[in-house]
Amino acid sequence: CSCRRACAHAVMAWSPLLPFLLVLLLQVAAVARASPLDTVLEGAAPCKAGYPCPQVPLGKSSSPPVNVSLYYEALCGGCRFFLVRELFPTWLMVYEILNVTLVPYGNAKEQNVSGKWEFECQHGEDECKWNKVEACLLDQLEWSAAFLTIVCLEELDDMESNLKPCLQIYAPKVSPDAIMDCAMGDRGTQLLHMNAQLTDALEPPHEYVPWVVVNGKPLKDISQLLTVVCQLYQGEKPELCPSKASSHWDVCLK
Ligand SMILES: *[C@@H]1O[C@H](CO)[C@@H](O)[C@H](O)[C@H]1NC(C)=O
Ligand SMILES: *[C@@H]1O[C@H](CO)[C@@H](O)[C@H](O)[C@H]1NC(C)=O
Ligand SMILES: *[C@@H]1O[C@H](CO)[C@@H](O)[C@H](O)[C@H]1NC(C)=O
Repeated sequence: CSCRRACAHAVMAWSPLLPFLLVLLLQVAAVARASPLDTVLEGAAPCKAGYPCPQVPLGKSSSPPVNVSLYYEALCGGCRFFLVRELFPTWLMVYEILNVTLVPYGNAKEQNVSGKWEFECQHGEDECKWNKVEACLLDQLEWSAAFLTIVCLEELDDMESNLKPCLQIYAPKVSPDAIMDCAMGDRGTQLLHMNAQLTDALEPPHEYVPWVVVNGKPLKDISQLLTVVCQLYQGEKPELCPSKASSHWDVCLK
């Protein structure tokens, strides 16, 4: 098995065992460091300074990547499951053909209270806070680092005490205080308002969370993400796509 396949496989099999996953995430960090992703993960500082951000290299062919957008809430169980057990392994396997967008907001509501946006989140105040934290991570970190930090947080029960260790793995130069300042301040409000607008503009509107949109169309069976992404990609299919790789998966399981 290639390392990526083994890692993704391990995520699917071991996810309920939290300590293992933390070790696994560390392994992913190590793998990422030794791969083309390293430039990306190191890219947080240049991105912040306004230089062009390094991108995950896309496939050998010049076909456009498949757009996958996740509309979700930070504390919704189904969202966490999808993010950690479907989207993350799919990304590990075929990131070169994916363009993932995360939109934390979901079923929240916003209201203009004398010129200031106020939010009401399905799982209470705490969820509004974590939606903002994740919006701030996406705003301030290079994309892969933000995504991996969010997966790390969403997998663990105590998000509050895990922000620091998760950041230390994926964006060691970024301080948790800077992220919390963003989340609790005007920037956090502004980012969540932008996510509210993106969510409210969905056509067709979202019916529930997690709501997954692939190349502009809602994905109703979210367990089929990898298969659908591979089908939609017009270029040369990555080796790990199910159509070609189903026999490899069997081999991998033995
Ligand atoms: C990736 O998605 C973002 C946000 O939806 C979009 O602005 C961007 O154009 C997409 N990139 C590609 C290469 O499709
Ligand atoms: C929000 O409300 C204030 C007054 O309460 C108003 O001046 C402002 O235009 C409103 N903003 C939006 C975007 O509706
Ligand atoms: C992905 O989204 C971008 C921005 O909306 C769009 O320009 C591009 O055509 C989309 N790609 C595909 C394969 O639909």
